[in-house]
Amino acid sequence: MIISTITFVALAASVKGQVVSSATAAVGSAVTGATSAAGSAVSSATAAVVSAASSIAVSDLPLPSGFPTSLANYTDILSGTLNFPNASTIESDLNLNDTEVAQLPLSALVIPGYANFTNGTWNLRVQGLAYKLPALNDSQLDDAADKYLPGVGNLTLNSTEETLLRNRTHDLLAIPHSNENLTFLVSASNSSTSVVNITLSQPTDASGEFDEFVMLPSSLGLSNSSTTQHITLYGQNLSGPANGSAILVPTSGYSIVSDIDDVLRITKVYQPITGLRNSFAEKYVNLPGMPELFEHWESTLPGVAFHYDTTTPAQLTRTYVEYLFGNYPVGSLDMRPINLTEPSAIFDARQTSLVRLFETFPDRKFVLIGDTSSSTLLSAYPSIAQQFPDQIGCIFIRNTSATDGADELPFDTSGFANLSNSTYFFYTVPEDLYNLNINGGQCRNDSIPQNLTFGEMGGPFTNGSTNPLSSSSSDSTSTSGARIVGAGLGTVVVAMIVGVISGVGF
Ligand SMILES: *[C@@H]1O[C@H](CO)[C@@H](O)[C@H](O)[C@H]1NC(C)=O
Ligand SMILES: *[C@@H]1O[C@H](CO)[C@@H](O)[C@H](O)[C@H]1NC(C)=O
Ligand SMILES: *[C@@H]1O[C@H](CO)[C@@H](O)[C@H](O)[C@H]1NC(C)=O
Ligand SMILES: *[C@@H]1O[C@H](CO)[C@@H](O)[C@H](O)[C@H]1NC(C)=O
Ligand SMILES: *[C@@H]1O[C@H](CO)[C@@H](O)[C@H](O)[C@H]1NC(C)=O
Ligand SMILES: *[C@@H]1O[C@H](CO)[C@@H](O)[C@H](O)[C@H]1NC(C)=O
Ligand SMILES: *[C@@H]1O[C@H](CO)[C@@H](O)[C@H](O)[C@H]1NC(C)=O
Ligand SMILES: *[C@@H]1O[C@H](CO)[C@@H](O)[C@H](O)[C@H]1NC(C)=O
Ligand SMILES: *[C@@H]1O[C@H](CO)[C@@H](O)[C@H](O)[C@H]1NC(C)=O
Ligand SMILES: *[C@@H]1O[C@H](CO)[C@@H](O)[C@H](O)[C@H]1NC(C)=O
Ligand SMILES: *[C@@H]1O[C@H](CO)[C@@H](O)[C@H](O)[C@H]1NC(C)=O
Ligand SMILES: *[C@@H]1O[C@H](CO)[C@@H](O)[C@H](O)[C@H]1NC(C)=O
Repeated sequence: MIISTITFVALAASVKGQVVSSATAAVGSAVTGATSAAGSAVSSATAAVVSAASSIAVSDLPLPSGFPTSLANYTDILSGTLNFPNASTIESDLNLNDTEVAQLPLSALVIPGYANFTNGTWNLRVQGLAYKLPALNDSQLDDAADKYLPGVGNLTLNSTEETLLRNRTHDLLAIPHSNENLTFLVSASNSSTSVVNITLSQPTDASGEFDEFVMLPSSLGLSNSSTTQHITLYGQNLSGPANGSAILVPTSGYSIVSDIDDVLRITKVYQPITGLRNSFAEKYVNLPGMPELFEHWESTLPGVAFHYDTTTPAQLTRTYVEYLFGNYPVGSLDMRPINLTEPSAIFDARQTSLVRLFETFPDRKFVLIGDTSSSTLLSAYPSIAQQFPDQIGCIFIRNTSATDGADELPFDTSGFANLSNSTYFFYTVPEDLYNLNINGGQCRNDSIPQNLTFGEMGGPFTNGSTNPLSSSSSDSTSTSGARIVGAGLGTVVVAMIVGVISGVGF
């Protein structure tokens, strides 16, 4: 394969600069060249991160199993977030001193959680971020977008799109607030008769994060039920926004666990400029047929509950919640963990959130939904299925390359080789899934050919598509030999090709 002459380099990043460094270190000297070659596509903050890099070997990277060794320098980048600033960077970039930060209202971002019924009461996962949001004018927001969201500076945007970009950029500039003891008033969303306060046992950590299970006092008066119930949390004694929701999930029933980008909404992470635009500057758009499918499942599957799982940064929770709960059933969310202390945590995020769900609901059946442009899912789903075989209902994977010829990302299906073929199904459109009798154990629609090789599939040189390294598609970013072939806000995204075809570059 021609790709062997190309070096793939992964850059992983998070809001916390220090976290990034070791992940980036993995690619060592290659990255330094990558960064300079990528030029404005990967701006100076990345360079700073890169310079902190030192010691992990390429072999330490969490490469998809079975990935060709010729592509050993490949892995995901969690892109769109290459340069996410940490608290002190935000403060200094915005010329805020400590006094000014102290005077900002304190807010809490509550990531919609879930509760199981344990020992006679509800055991609720309370997760989120305490933060302070600086007031910023449009020109500060525009500068921040240019700096922290590589590539957006070059998008041509109308006023609606500019407003959305500024909103999302602003949310990314939340300054985490540590060591705060949080109390939430909890009320049932349907009957407002009783309310209780819960206080978290731990103050927010150095990342501003909180994440713990809390037993709800039985005085709240919500008993176990065969259907999902809803509650609302109101942060107490906080001067900024601090509300959120959670679901109380029946002991048994079906849990739909779904990725969001390119499964529920059209993102096109595999087209970098489009992915960037769709993530930061556009109103989110449904994948046609998916809301109807979820509505169908909501009304037909027993004890159904919905869990949305993405590695989009937690700071964008409100945007995702507003979109999801306006178009899909209300549920819980798992966002990218806030406290990432090592690169494996980024790559393991899916696995970790799935394990927690499966352990929290040992008597429920799970339906896992993802897509081929998310390599973390293609390995996490089969692995969780092997770990918890009795809890797997079905695994549904949307083959994004089957319906979108512009998808040139290779994907690896080897994880499915050891699973029973009755439990997973690759689909192309939501209608492929609509008539499946999931509750009767039916996961496959035999009218849809599967084509699985249990190895690497797709990729830039299949299906007669053009070699992205020689094409001049408007949807690619090419700077001095660097080319981003996938970008997007959440998950996954493959891959910055920094290397170099013969002689170009560094
Ligand atoms: C990975 O990149 C490094 C640095 O550019 C290079 O020395 C190495 O040969 C590459 N490995 C593979 C398998 O391409
Ligand atoms: C953005 O535009 C500038 C100036 O036109 C150009 O130099 C740069 O390469 C472009 N960056 C990307 C990522 O396209
Ligand atoms: C912080 O900035 C404000 C506004 O610029 C200024 O009035 C104040 O003196 C500064 N405080 C400190 C401690 O520097
Ligand atoms: C439920 O009760 C059992 C037995 O008393 C105890 O071991 C377990 O820790 C309790 N679970 C929770 C979540 O408190
Ligand atoms: C801006 O562009 C978007 C996407 O093409 C479109 O939906 C929207 O109506 C446009 N808004 C204005 C004010 O032109
Ligand atoms: C939070 O609570 C702990 C123990 O309850 C206490 O030691 C600490 O001072 C509190 N922190 C703040 C900021 O109030
Ligand atoms: C919850 O806590 C807040 C703030 O401490 C207090 O004002 C409120 O009365 C409490 N409500 C209940 C139901 O305990
Ligand atoms: C982050 O997570 C690690 C391990 O998961 C934990 O030890 C640490 O205290 C957490 N908090 C911060 C701020 O790193
Ligand atoms: C951005 O939009 C979301 C969703 O509408 C909203 O909840 C959030 O408060 C907005 N952020 C800012 C900084 O205005
Ligand atoms: C509820 O969830 C907690 C946290 O994951 C878990 O320890 C506990 O065993 C679960 N309870 C039941 C009854 O499954
Ligand atoms: C599923 O696997 C069985 C063998 O385990 C095989 O006989 C059958 O043809 C497979 N079905 C499909 C649709 O691939
Ligand atoms: C399998 O290949 C056929 C023929 O190219 C195509 O029509 C079908 O959509 C593919 N199936 C999937 C799940 O991608």
